[in-house]
Amino acid sequence: MNLHTLLLNKFSAALVAIGAPENSPAPLSRATKVGFGDYQFNGAMALAKVLKQKPRDIAEKIVEAVKLDGITEKLEVAGPGFINIYLSKAWLAAQLSEAAADTRLNIEAQPSKTVVVDYSSPNLAKEMHVGHLRTTIIGDAVVKALEFMGHKVIRQNHMGDWGTQFGMLLAHLNDKLESNQVAETALSDLEDFYREAKVRFDEEEGFADRAREYVVKLQGGDSHCLALWQNFIDVSITHSEEVYHKLNVSLTRDDIMGESAYNHDLANVVNELQAKGLAVESQGAQVVFLPELADKEGNPAAYIVQKSGGGYLYATTDLAAIRHRNKQLHADRTLILTDARQALHFKQTELVARKAGFIEPEQTYEHCPFGMMLGNDGRPFKTRTGGTVKLVELLDEAVERAEALLSKRETDLSSDELKVLANKIGIGAVKYADLSKNRTTDYMFSWDSMLSFEGNTAPYLQYAYTRVMSIFRKAGVDHQTLNAPISLDAPQEKILAVKQLQYVEAINQVIAEGTPHVLCTYLYELASLFMSFYEACPMLKDGIEQDVRDSRMTLAALTAKTLQSGLSLLGIDTMERM
Ligand code: ARG
Repeated sequence: MNLHTLLLNKFSAALVAIGAPENSPAPLSRATKVGFGDYQFNGAMALAKVLKQKPRDIAEKIVEAVKLDGITEKLEVAGPGFINIYLSKAWLAAQLSEAAADTRLNIEAQPSKTVVVDYSSPNLAKEMHVGHLRTTIIGDAVVKALEFMGHKVIRQNHMGDWGTQFGMLLAHLNDKLESNQVAETALSDLEDFYREAKVRFDEEEGFADRAREYVVKLQGGDSHCLALWQNFIDVSITHSEEVYHKLNVSLTRDDIMGESAYNHDLANVVNELQAKGLAVESQGAQVVFLPELADKEGNPAAYIVQKSGGGYLYATTDLAAIRHRNKQLHADRTLILTDARQALHFKQTELVARKAGFIEPEQTYEHCPFGMMLGNDGRPFKTRTGGTVKLVELLDEAVERAEALLSKRETDLSSDELKVLANKIGIGAVKYADLSKNRTTDYMFSWDSMLSFEGNTAPYLQYAYTRVMSIFRKAGVDHQTLNAPISLDAPQEKILAVKQLQYVEAINQVIAEGTPHVLCTYLYELASLFMSFYEACPMLKDGIEQDVRDSRMTLAALTAKTLQSGLSLLGIDTMERM
Protein backbone atom coordinates (compact mmCIF):
# COMPACT_ATOMS: atom_id res chain seq x y z
CA MET A 1 0.00 0.00 0.00
CA ASN A 2 1.34 3.38 -0.99
CA LEU A 3 -0.31 6.22 0.92
CA HIS A 4 0.84 8.90 -1.45
CA THR A 5 -0.32 7.09 -4.58
CA LEU A 6 -3.61 6.20 -3.00
CA LEU A 7 -4.41 9.78 -1.99
CA LEU A 8 -3.13 11.12 -5.27
CA ASN A 9 -5.49 8.89 -7.24
CA LYS A 10 -8.42 9.98 -5.11
CA PHE A 11 -7.64 13.68 -5.47
CA SER A 12 -6.94 13.41 -9.19
CA ALA A 13 -10.35 11.81 -9.61
CA ALA A 14 -11.89 14.64 -7.60
CA LEU A 15 -10.29 17.19 -9.90
CA VAL A 16 -11.92 15.53 -12.88
CA ALA A 17 -15.22 15.47 -11.03
CA ILE A 18 -15.20 19.22 -10.43
CA GLY A 19 -14.51 19.88 -14.09
CA ALA A 20 -10.78 20.59 -14.05
CA PRO A 21 -9.02 19.98 -17.36
CA GLU A 22 -7.50 16.53 -17.80
CA ASN A 23 -4.00 16.10 -16.34
CA SER A 24 -4.22 19.21 -14.19
CA PRO A 25 -1.33 19.32 -11.76
CA ALA A 26 -2.14 17.48 -8.53
CA PRO A 27 0.48 18.53 -6.00
CA LEU A 28 0.22 16.32 -2.96
CA SER A 29 2.87 16.38 -0.28
CA ARG A 30 3.55 15.12 3.18
CA ALA A 31 2.68 17.75 5.75
CA THR A 32 5.81 19.49 6.88
CA LYS A 33 4.47 20.75 10.22
CA VAL A 34 2.46 19.28 13.02
CA GLY A 35 -1.04 20.75 13.02
CA PHE A 36 -1.40 20.74 9.25
CA GLY A 37 -2.66 17.20 8.97
CA ASP A 38 -0.68 14.29 7.57
CA TYR A 39 -0.70 15.24 3.89
CA GLN A 40 -1.53 18.41 2.07
CA PHE A 41 -3.19 18.82 -1.30
CA ASN A 42 -2.39 22.09 -3.03
CA GLY A 43 -4.13 21.69 -6.36
CA ALA A 44 -6.74 24.40 -5.88
CA MET A 45 -4.46 27.40 -6.31
CA ALA A 46 -3.20 26.38 -9.72
CA LEU A 47 -6.77 25.91 -10.96
CA ALA A 48 -8.02 29.37 -9.97
CA LYS A 49 -7.06 30.92 -13.30
CA VAL A 50 -8.24 28.03 -15.42
CA LEU A 51 -11.62 27.71 -13.72
CA LYS A 52 -11.97 31.42 -13.04
CA GLN A 53 -12.96 30.79 -9.43
CA LYS A 54 -11.49 31.63 -6.05
CA PRO A 55 -8.96 29.03 -4.90
CA ARG A 56 -10.75 28.58 -1.57
CA ASP A 57 -14.00 27.87 -3.37
CA ILE A 58 -12.25 25.34 -5.55
CA ALA A 59 -10.73 23.73 -2.48
CA GLU A 60 -14.19 23.43 -0.91
CA LYS A 61 -15.47 21.78 -4.07
CA ILE A 62 -12.58 19.32 -4.12
CA VAL A 63 -13.25 18.45 -0.48
CA GLU A 64 -16.85 17.75 -1.36
CA ALA A 65 -16.03 15.74 -4.46
CA VAL A 66 -13.19 13.60 -3.18
CA LYS A 67 -14.20 10.05 -2.29
CA LEU A 68 -11.97 8.93 0.51
CA ASP A 69 -13.98 5.98 1.83
CA GLY A 70 -12.87 6.12 5.43
CA ILE A 71 -9.20 6.81 4.73
CA THR A 72 -9.36 10.19 6.37
CA GLU A 73 -10.70 11.56 9.61
CA LYS A 74 -11.20 15.05 8.28
CA LEU A 75 -10.20 17.45 5.53
CA GLU A 76 -9.64 21.09 6.27
CA VAL A 77 -9.33 24.01 3.90
CA ALA A 78 -6.66 26.38 5.11
CA GLY A 79 -5.03 29.64 4.03
CA PRO A 80 -5.53 30.60 0.39
CA GLY A 81 -6.83 27.12 -0.51
CA PHE A 82 -4.62 24.38 0.92
CA ILE A 83 -6.36 21.17 1.83
CA ASN A 84 -4.99 19.57 4.98
CA ILE A 85 -5.59 15.86 5.09
CA TYR A 86 -5.97 14.08 8.43
CA LEU A 87 -5.77 10.31 8.08
CA SER A 88 -8.14 8.15 10.07
CA LYS A 89 -6.60 6.33 13.01
CA ALA A 90 -8.73 3.24 12.50
CA TRP A 91 -7.82 3.09 8.84
CA LEU A 92 -4.12 3.57 9.61
CA ALA A 93 -4.29 0.83 12.23
CA ALA A 94 -5.80 -1.57 9.71
CA GLN A 95 -3.00 -0.76 7.25
CA LEU A 96 -0.40 -1.39 9.92
CA SER A 97 -1.90 -4.78 10.70
CA GLU A 98 -1.60 -5.74 7.05
CA ALA A 99 2.00 -4.59 6.98
CA ALA A 100 2.75 -6.55 10.14
CA ALA A 101 1.31 -9.71 8.60
CA ASP A 102 3.37 -9.45 5.43
CA THR A 103 7.07 -10.18 4.92
CA ARG A 104 7.24 -7.29 2.44
CA LEU A 105 5.48 -4.93 4.82
CA ASN A 106 2.56 -4.86 2.40
CA ILE A 107 4.60 -3.09 -0.24
CA GLU A 108 3.66 -4.20 -3.75
CA ALA A 109 6.31 -4.61 -6.42
CA GLN A 110 6.10 -2.20 -9.37
CA PRO A 111 5.76 -3.11 -13.03
CA SER A 112 9.25 -4.31 -13.72
CA LYS A 113 11.76 -2.33 -15.76
CA THR A 114 15.18 -3.47 -16.86
CA VAL A 115 17.71 -1.23 -15.21
CA VAL A 116 21.43 -1.35 -15.90
CA VAL A 117 23.47 0.07 -13.04
CA ASP A 118 27.11 0.85 -13.77
CA TYR A 119 28.87 1.27 -10.45
CA SER A 120 32.08 0.66 -8.54
CA SER A 121 34.04 0.30 -11.81
CA PRO A 122 37.54 0.71 -10.34
CA ASN A 123 40.67 0.90 -12.43
CA LEU A 124 42.49 -2.37 -12.08
CA ALA A 125 45.94 -0.88 -12.63
CA LYS A 126 45.76 0.42 -9.08
CA GLU A 127 44.30 -0.37 -5.72
CA MET A 128 40.74 0.74 -4.92
CA HIS A 129 40.97 4.02 -3.04
CA VAL A 130 38.50 6.12 -1.10
CA GLY A 131 37.24 7.65 -4.34
CA HIS A 132 35.60 4.32 -5.11
CA LEU A 133 33.72 4.11 -1.85
CA ARG A 134 30.85 6.34 -2.92
CA THR A 135 30.17 4.76 -6.30
CA THR A 136 30.33 1.29 -4.78
CA ILE A 137 27.98 1.78 -1.87
CA ILE A 138 25.57 4.30 -3.39
CA GLY A 139 25.29 2.06 -6.43
CA ASP A 140 24.69 -1.01 -4.32
CA ALA A 141 22.00 0.69 -2.25
CA VAL A 142 20.18 1.86 -5.39
CA VAL A 143 20.44 -1.63 -6.86
CA LYS A 144 18.94 -3.22 -3.77
CA ALA A 145 16.10 -0.71 -3.66
CA LEU A 146 15.35 -1.36 -7.34
CA GLU A 147 15.31 -5.10 -6.79
CA PHE A 148 13.12 -4.77 -3.73
CA MET A 149 10.56 -2.95 -5.85
CA GLY A 150 10.60 -5.75 -8.41
CA HIS A 151 12.81 -4.38 -11.15
CA LYS A 152 15.22 -6.45 -13.16
CA VAL A 153 18.64 -5.07 -12.36
CA ILE A 154 21.75 -5.77 -14.39
CA ARG A 155 24.87 -4.77 -12.49
CA GLN A 156 27.72 -3.67 -14.70
CA ASN A 157 31.11 -3.29 -13.12
CA HIS A 158 32.81 -1.31 -15.88
CA MET A 159 36.31 -1.99 -14.61
CA GLY A 160 39.23 -0.12 -16.12
CA ASP A 161 41.16 -3.17 -17.28
CA TRP A 162 42.50 -1.94 -20.58
CA GLY A 163 44.61 0.88 -21.92
CA THR A 164 48.16 1.96 -22.45
CA GLN A 165 49.27 1.91 -18.81
CA PHE A 166 49.01 -1.88 -18.95
CA GLY A 167 52.03 -1.95 -21.28
CA MET A 168 54.36 -0.79 -18.55
CA LEU A 169 52.66 -2.94 -15.91
CA LEU A 170 52.86 -6.10 -17.97
CA ALA A 171 56.48 -5.52 -18.92
CA HIS A 172 57.30 -5.11 -15.25
CA LEU A 173 55.25 -8.16 -14.29
CA ASN A 174 56.98 -10.18 -16.98
CA ASP A 175 60.35 -9.44 -15.40
CA LYS A 176 59.14 -10.28 -11.91
CA LEU A 177 57.76 -13.61 -13.06
CA GLU A 178 60.97 -14.34 -14.92
CA SER A 179 62.86 -13.85 -11.69
CA ASN A 180 60.61 -16.53 -10.24
CA GLN A 181 58.16 -14.43 -8.25
CA VAL A 182 54.54 -15.47 -8.25
CA ALA A 183 52.02 -12.91 -9.43
CA GLU A 184 50.15 -12.82 -6.12
CA THR A 185 53.30 -11.75 -4.27
CA ALA A 186 54.50 -9.36 -6.92
CA LEU A 187 51.10 -7.71 -7.00
CA SER A 188 50.33 -7.86 -3.29
CA ASP A 189 50.51 -4.08 -3.20
CA LEU A 190 49.34 -2.61 -6.47
CA GLU A 191 50.36 0.92 -5.52
CA ASP A 192 53.95 -0.14 -4.96
CA PHE A 193 53.91 -2.18 -8.11
CA TYR A 194 52.57 0.72 -10.16
CA ARG A 195 55.17 3.06 -8.69
CA GLU A 196 58.04 0.67 -9.48
CA ALA A 197 56.85 0.22 -13.04
CA LYS A 198 56.51 3.96 -13.47
CA VAL A 199 60.04 4.61 -12.21
CA ARG A 200 61.39 2.08 -14.68
CA PHE A 201 59.28 3.62 -17.44
CA ASP A 202 60.68 7.07 -16.72
CA GLU A 203 64.25 6.13 -15.96
CA GLU A 204 65.35 2.75 -17.24
CA GLU A 205 66.81 2.62 -20.68
CA GLY A 206 64.76 0.68 -23.18
CA PHE A 207 61.93 -0.04 -20.72
CA ALA A 208 59.51 2.53 -22.12
CA ASP A 209 59.97 1.07 -25.60
CA ARG A 210 59.31 -2.40 -24.28
CA ALA A 211 56.20 -1.12 -22.52
CA ARG A 212 54.89 0.32 -25.78
CA GLU A 213 55.68 -2.91 -27.54
CA TYR A 214 53.65 -4.76 -24.95
CA VAL A 215 50.66 -2.55 -25.60
CA VAL A 216 50.80 -3.24 -29.32
CA LYS A 217 51.22 -6.96 -28.70
CA LEU A 218 48.40 -7.04 -26.21
CA GLN A 219 46.05 -5.33 -28.63
CA GLY A 220 47.21 -7.66 -31.37
CA GLY A 221 46.17 -10.64 -29.26
CA ASP A 222 49.68 -11.97 -28.55
CA SER A 223 49.21 -14.99 -26.32
CA HIS A 224 52.11 -14.33 -23.93
CA CYS A 225 50.92 -10.76 -23.32
CA LEU A 226 47.32 -11.84 -22.96
CA ALA A 227 48.31 -14.42 -20.36
CA LEU A 228 50.27 -11.81 -18.41
CA TRP A 229 47.34 -9.42 -18.63
CA GLN A 230 44.90 -12.09 -17.45
CA ASN A 231 47.18 -12.88 -14.56
CA PHE A 232 47.43 -9.23 -13.62
CA ILE A 233 43.74 -8.46 -13.70
CA ASP A 234 42.85 -11.67 -11.88
CA VAL A 235 44.99 -10.67 -8.95
CA SER A 236 43.72 -7.10 -9.08
CA ILE A 237 40.10 -8.26 -9.17
CA THR A 238 40.81 -10.35 -6.09
CA HIS A 239 41.92 -7.16 -4.34
CA SER A 240 38.61 -5.51 -5.27
CA GLU A 241 36.68 -8.53 -4.10
CA GLU A 242 38.30 -8.26 -0.72
CA VAL A 243 36.92 -4.72 -0.49
CA TYR A 244 33.48 -5.81 -1.70
CA HIS A 245 33.41 -8.49 0.91
CA LYS A 246 34.38 -6.13 3.70
CA LEU A 247 31.84 -3.59 2.47
CA ASN A 248 29.10 -6.20 2.28
CA VAL A 249 28.08 -5.19 -1.24
CA SER A 250 26.40 -7.49 -3.71
CA LEU A 251 28.87 -7.32 -6.63
CA THR A 252 30.26 -10.60 -7.91
CA ARG A 253 32.59 -11.65 -10.73
CA ASP A 254 29.60 -12.18 -12.97
CA ASP A 255 28.87 -8.47 -12.82
CA ILE A 256 32.22 -7.53 -14.28
CA MET A 257 32.00 -6.12 -17.75
CA GLY A 258 35.31 -4.32 -17.99
CA GLU A 259 36.53 -1.99 -20.70
CA SER A 260 38.35 -4.89 -22.38
CA ALA A 261 35.02 -6.59 -23.06
CA TYR A 262 34.24 -3.90 -25.65
CA ASN A 263 37.62 -3.96 -27.33
CA HIS A 264 36.42 -6.04 -30.28
CA ASP A 265 33.59 -3.61 -30.95
CA LEU A 266 35.38 -0.27 -30.94
CA ALA A 267 36.22 -0.22 -34.65
CA ASN A 268 32.58 -1.03 -35.42
CA VAL A 269 31.42 1.88 -33.30
CA VAL A 270 33.69 4.30 -35.12
CA ASN A 271 32.64 2.89 -38.50
CA GLU A 272 29.00 3.29 -37.63
CA LEU A 273 29.53 6.87 -36.48
CA GLN A 274 31.33 7.60 -39.76
CA ALA A 275 28.64 5.94 -41.84
CA LYS A 276 26.01 8.05 -40.12
CA GLY A 277 28.01 11.16 -40.91
CA LEU A 278 28.63 11.87 -37.25
CA ALA A 279 32.35 11.15 -36.94
CA VAL A 280 34.60 13.10 -39.27
CA GLU A 281 38.35 13.34 -39.65
CA SER A 282 40.01 16.24 -37.93
CA GLN A 283 43.81 16.47 -37.70
CA GLY A 284 44.04 12.74 -38.24
CA ALA A 285 41.60 11.90 -35.46
CA GLN A 286 37.97 10.82 -35.72
CA VAL A 287 35.82 13.43 -34.07
CA VAL A 288 32.10 14.04 -33.50
CA PHE A 289 31.43 17.77 -33.34
CA LEU A 290 28.66 18.86 -31.02
CA PRO A 291 27.26 22.31 -31.80
CA GLU A 292 24.75 21.82 -28.95
CA LEU A 293 27.63 22.07 -26.54
CA ALA A 294 29.51 24.94 -28.11
CA ASP A 295 31.82 27.21 -26.12
CA LYS A 296 31.33 30.96 -25.72
CA GLU A 297 32.87 31.67 -29.11
CA GLY A 298 30.45 29.27 -30.73
CA ASN A 299 32.98 26.51 -31.41
CA PRO A 300 31.28 23.13 -31.15
CA ALA A 301 32.59 20.68 -28.56
CA ALA A 302 34.90 18.10 -30.11
CA TYR A 303 34.22 14.56 -28.95
CA ILE A 304 37.13 12.37 -30.02
CA VAL A 305 36.35 8.72 -30.72
CA GLN A 306 39.65 7.68 -32.27
CA LYS A 307 43.06 9.25 -31.82
CA SER A 308 45.26 10.15 -34.76
CA GLY A 309 47.47 7.13 -34.12
CA GLY A 310 44.42 4.87 -34.41
CA GLY A 311 43.99 4.29 -30.66
CA TYR A 312 40.57 4.31 -29.06
CA LEU A 313 39.50 6.15 -25.93
CA TYR A 314 37.45 5.90 -22.75
CA ALA A 315 34.70 7.61 -24.74
CA THR A 316 34.70 5.04 -27.53
CA THR A 317 34.35 2.28 -24.96
CA ASP A 318 31.44 4.06 -23.33
CA LEU A 319 29.64 4.29 -26.66
CA ALA A 320 30.15 0.57 -27.24
CA ALA A 321 28.87 -0.07 -23.72
CA ILE A 322 25.73 1.98 -24.35
CA ARG A 323 25.03 0.15 -27.56
CA HIS A 324 25.48 -3.21 -25.86
CA ARG A 325 23.31 -2.30 -22.89
CA ASN A 326 20.49 -0.90 -24.95
CA LYS A 327 20.48 -3.30 -27.90
CA GLN A 328 21.52 -6.55 -26.23
CA LEU A 329 20.49 -6.08 -22.61
CA HIS A 330 17.38 -4.03 -23.49
CA ALA A 331 17.86 -1.55 -20.70
CA ASP A 332 14.93 0.76 -20.03
CA ARG A 333 17.13 2.84 -17.79
CA THR A 334 20.90 3.04 -17.39
CA LEU A 335 22.34 4.59 -14.25
CA ILE A 336 26.03 5.41 -14.00
CA LEU A 337 27.66 6.38 -10.74
CA THR A 338 30.88 8.33 -10.92
CA ASP A 339 32.18 11.50 -9.34
CA ALA A 340 30.96 14.82 -10.65
CA ARG A 341 34.16 15.52 -12.56
CA GLN A 342 32.98 13.17 -15.29
CA ALA A 343 29.65 14.96 -15.77
CA LEU A 344 30.63 16.64 -19.03
CA HIS A 345 31.92 13.38 -20.46
CA PHE A 346 28.60 11.65 -19.86
CA LYS A 347 26.60 14.57 -21.15
CA GLN A 348 28.56 14.53 -24.40
CA THR A 349 28.45 10.75 -24.57
CA GLU A 350 24.68 10.70 -24.26
CA LEU A 351 24.31 13.31 -26.96
CA VAL A 352 26.51 11.38 -29.38
CA ALA A 353 24.82 8.08 -28.53
CA ARG A 354 21.34 9.53 -29.06
CA LYS A 355 22.33 10.97 -32.44
CA ALA A 356 23.75 7.61 -33.40
CA GLY A 357 20.59 5.82 -32.33
CA PHE A 358 22.40 3.84 -29.62
CA ILE A 359 19.80 5.14 -27.19
CA GLU A 360 16.14 4.97 -28.18
CA PRO A 361 14.01 7.96 -27.21
CA GLU A 362 12.23 5.99 -24.48
CA GLN A 363 15.47 4.69 -22.98
CA THR A 364 17.23 6.77 -20.38
CA TYR A 365 20.90 7.38 -19.69
CA GLU A 366 21.28 8.83 -16.24
CA HIS A 367 24.61 9.93 -14.91
CA CYS A 368 24.35 10.14 -11.11
CA PRO A 369 27.27 12.30 -10.08
CA PHE A 370 28.60 12.60 -6.57
CA GLY A 371 30.87 14.97 -4.69
CA MET A 372 34.16 14.26 -3.01
CA MET A 373 35.04 12.94 0.37
CA LEU A 374 37.00 15.61 2.23
CA GLY A 375 39.33 15.41 5.20
CA ASN A 376 38.61 17.55 8.26
CA ASP A 377 40.79 20.27 6.75
CA GLY A 378 38.22 20.57 3.99
CA ARG A 379 40.61 19.23 1.35
CA PRO A 380 40.37 15.96 -0.57
CA PHE A 381 40.77 13.09 1.87
CA LYS A 382 44.43 11.98 1.96
CA THR A 383 46.80 10.07 4.19
CA ARG A 384 48.95 12.07 6.59
CA THR A 385 51.76 12.04 4.09
CA GLY A 386 49.45 13.21 1.31
CA GLY A 387 48.95 9.87 -0.45
CA THR A 388 45.65 8.37 -1.55
CA VAL A 389 43.94 6.35 1.14
CA LYS A 390 43.45 2.71 0.25
CA LEU A 391 39.88 1.65 0.78
CA VAL A 392 40.89 -1.61 2.45
CA GLU A 393 42.89 0.26 5.06
CA LEU A 394 40.11 2.72 5.72
CA LEU A 395 37.66 -0.11 6.36
CA ASP A 396 40.07 -1.93 8.64
CA GLU A 397 40.55 1.23 10.63
CA ALA A 398 36.78 1.63 10.98
CA VAL A 399 36.47 -1.82 12.49
CA GLU A 400 39.42 -1.23 14.83
CA ARG A 401 37.92 2.02 16.03
CA ALA A 402 34.55 0.43 16.61
CA GLU A 403 36.19 -2.36 18.56
CA ALA A 404 38.10 0.11 20.72
CA LEU A 405 34.86 1.96 21.46
CA LEU A 406 32.98 -1.21 22.32
CA SER A 407 35.65 -2.65 24.57
CA LYS A 408 35.52 0.51 26.70
CA ARG A 409 31.95 -0.34 27.64
CA GLU A 410 30.88 -2.69 30.30
CA THR A 411 29.56 -5.75 28.57
CA ASP A 412 29.12 -9.46 28.97
CA LEU A 413 29.95 -10.12 25.32
CA SER A 414 32.74 -12.55 24.54
CA SER A 415 35.68 -11.24 22.54
CA ASP A 416 34.44 -13.10 19.46
CA GLU A 417 31.02 -11.54 19.76
CA LEU A 418 32.68 -8.19 20.20
CA LYS A 419 34.61 -8.67 16.95
CA VAL A 420 31.47 -9.49 14.99
CA LEU A 421 29.75 -6.48 16.46
CA ALA A 422 32.70 -4.18 15.79
CA ASN A 423 32.64 -5.24 12.18
CA LYS A 424 28.96 -4.46 11.77
CA ILE A 425 29.21 -1.15 13.57
CA GLY A 426 32.47 0.00 11.99
CA ILE A 427 31.52 -0.84 8.40
CA GLY A 428 27.95 0.34 8.97
CA ALA A 429 29.26 3.66 10.26
CA VAL A 430 31.49 4.34 7.25
CA LYS A 431 28.80 3.37 4.79
CA TYR A 432 26.00 5.24 6.49
CA ALA A 433 28.05 8.42 6.93
CA ASP A 434 28.45 8.46 3.19
CA LEU A 435 25.02 7.24 2.16
CA SER A 436 23.23 9.71 4.41
CA LYS A 437 24.73 12.74 2.68
CA ASN A 438 23.10 14.13 -0.41
CA ARG A 439 25.40 12.61 -3.00
CA THR A 440 25.77 15.72 -5.11
CA THR A 441 27.75 17.61 -2.51
CA ASP A 442 31.22 17.09 -1.05
CA TYR A 443 31.25 15.87 2.53
CA MET A 444 33.67 15.88 5.38
CA PHE A 445 34.86 12.53 6.62
CA SER A 446 34.87 12.38 10.42
CA TRP A 447 35.45 9.27 12.50
CA ASP A 448 33.98 10.84 15.60
CA SER A 449 30.66 11.82 14.14
CA MET A 450 30.12 8.64 12.13
CA LEU A 451 30.80 6.40 15.12
CA SER A 452 28.61 8.40 17.47
CA PHE A 453 25.57 6.74 18.98
CA GLU A 454 23.68 9.99 18.68
CA GLY A 455 22.41 11.81 15.64
CA ASN A 456 21.85 10.55 12.12
CA THR A 457 24.39 7.71 12.23
CA ALA A 458 24.42 3.96 11.69
CA PRO A 459 25.21 3.20 15.34
CA TYR A 460 22.16 5.25 16.38
CA LEU A 461 19.89 3.27 14.06
CA GLN A 462 21.46 -0.05 14.96
CA TYR A 463 21.04 0.87 18.59
CA ALA A 464 17.39 1.81 18.06
CA TYR A 465 16.85 -1.62 16.56
CA THR A 466 18.51 -3.46 19.44
CA ARG A 467 16.50 -1.37 21.86
CA VAL A 468 13.27 -2.71 20.40
CA MET A 469 14.69 -6.21 20.47
CA SER A 470 15.52 -5.87 24.14
CA ILE A 471 11.90 -4.93 24.88
CA PHE A 472 10.75 -8.18 23.33
CA ARG A 473 13.38 -10.16 25.19
CA LYS A 474 12.34 -8.65 28.49
CA ALA A 475 8.67 -9.21 27.76
CA GLY A 476 9.34 -12.71 26.48
CA VAL A 477 7.41 -12.17 23.24
CA ASP A 478 8.21 -13.37 19.75
CA HIS A 479 8.24 -10.25 17.62
CA GLN A 480 8.17 -12.26 14.38
CA THR A 481 4.63 -13.47 14.98
CA LEU A 482 3.35 -10.51 16.95
CA ASN A 483 0.28 -9.06 15.29
CA ALA A 484 -2.21 -7.76 17.84
CA PRO A 485 -4.95 -5.26 16.98
CA ILE A 486 -3.45 -1.79 16.96
CA SER A 487 -5.07 1.31 18.39
CA LEU A 488 -3.43 4.66 17.86
CA ASP A 489 -4.40 6.67 20.91
CA ALA A 490 -1.41 8.82 21.80
CA PRO A 491 -0.30 11.44 19.26
CA GLN A 492 3.15 9.78 19.28
CA GLU A 493 1.51 6.59 18.11
CA LYS A 494 -0.30 8.14 15.23
CA ILE A 495 2.69 10.06 13.97
CA LEU A 496 4.82 6.92 14.17
CA ALA A 497 2.14 4.99 12.29
CA VAL A 498 2.03 7.46 9.42
CA LYS A 499 5.82 7.53 9.18
CA GLN A 500 5.88 3.76 9.20
CA LEU A 501 3.55 3.60 6.21
CA GLN A 502 5.69 6.09 4.27
CA TYR A 503 8.58 3.66 3.93
CA VAL A 504 7.67 2.84 0.34
CA GLU A 505 7.64 6.52 -0.58
CA ALA A 506 11.25 6.81 0.55
CA ILE A 507 12.27 3.73 -1.45
CA ASN A 508 10.58 5.04 -4.56
CA GLN A 509 12.44 8.29 -4.31
CA VAL A 510 15.75 6.45 -3.97
CA ILE A 511 14.90 4.55 -7.14
CA ALA A 512 13.74 7.54 -9.12
CA GLU A 513 16.65 9.78 -8.24
CA GLY A 514 19.48 7.46 -7.26
CA THR A 515 19.61 9.09 -3.84
CA PRO A 516 19.95 6.69 -0.89
CA HIS A 517 20.18 9.63 1.54
CA VAL A 518 16.41 9.93 1.26
CA LEU A 519 16.08 6.48 2.79
CA CYS A 520 18.62 7.36 5.50
CA THR A 521 16.67 10.47 6.46
CA TYR A 522 13.51 8.42 6.52
CA LEU A 523 15.01 5.76 8.80
CA TYR A 524 16.47 8.38 11.10
CA GLU A 525 13.10 10.08 11.43
CA LEU A 526 11.40 6.75 12.00
CA ALA A 527 13.87 5.83 14.75
CA SER A 528 13.52 9.24 16.38
CA LEU A 529 9.74 9.01 16.36
CA PHE A 530 10.04 5.57 17.83
CA MET A 531 12.15 6.93 20.69
CA SER A 532 9.47 9.55 21.48
CA PHE A 533 6.77 6.93 21.29
CA TYR A 534 8.79 4.65 23.55
CA GLU A 535 9.04 7.35 26.19
CA ALA A 536 5.38 8.36 26.02
CA CYS A 537 3.91 4.88 25.69
CA PRO A 538 5.56 2.41 28.04
CA MET A 539 5.30 -1.28 27.27
CA LEU A 540 6.99 -2.98 30.18
CA LYS A 541 5.61 -1.06 33.16
CA ASP A 542 3.32 -2.85 35.57
CA GLY A 543 -0.37 -2.13 35.39
CA ILE A 544 -0.62 -1.60 31.63
CA GLU A 545 -3.63 -3.31 30.17
CA GLN A 546 -2.86 -6.32 28.03
CA ASP A 547 -4.47 -5.02 24.82
CA VAL A 548 -2.72 -1.65 25.13
CA ARG A 549 0.58 -3.37 25.70
CA ASP A 550 0.07 -5.70 22.75
CA SER A 551 -0.91 -2.87 20.46
CA ARG A 552 2.23 -0.94 21.39
CA MET A 553 4.39 -4.02 21.03
CA THR A 554 3.01 -4.63 17.56
CA LEU A 555 3.79 -1.07 16.58
CA ALA A 556 7.29 -1.51 17.99
CA ALA A 557 7.76 -4.78 16.09
CA LEU A 558 6.71 -3.10 12.89
CA THR A 559 9.19 -0.31 13.46
CA ALA A 560 11.95 -2.84 14.01
CA LYS A 561 10.98 -4.69 10.85
CA THR A 562 11.06 -1.48 8.84
CA LEU A 563 14.39 -0.40 10.31
CA GLN A 564 15.87 -3.76 9.50
CA SER A 565 14.48 -3.78 5.99
CA GLY A 566 15.65 -0.24 5.28
CA LEU A 567 19.12 -0.80 6.68
CA SER A 568 19.46 -4.00 4.69
CA LEU A 569 18.68 -2.08 1.49
CA LEU A 570 21.56 0.18 2.47
CA GLY A 571 23.73 -2.89 3.04
CA ILE A 572 23.94 -2.31 6.79
CA ASP A 573 23.48 -5.10 9.32
CA THR A 574 21.28 -5.01 12.37
CA MET A 575 21.86 -7.10 15.46
CA GLU A 576 19.82 -8.42 18.36
CA ARG A 577 22.03 -6.84 20.99
CA MET A 578 24.97 -4.50 21.20
N1 ARG B 1 36.81 3.41 -14.24
C1 ARG B 1 36.25 4.73 -14.17
C2 ARG B 1 36.90 5.51 -13.03
O1 ARG B 1 37.42 4.95 -12.09
C3 ARG B 1 34.77 4.73 -13.93
C4 ARG B 1 33.95 4.07 -15.01
C5 ARG B 1 32.52 4.46 -14.94
N2 ARG B 1 31.71 3.88 -15.96
C6 ARG B 1 31.72 4.17 -17.26
N3 ARG B 1 30.89 3.55 -18.04
N4 ARG B 1 32.53 5.10 -17.75
O2 ARG B 1 36.85 6.73 -13.07
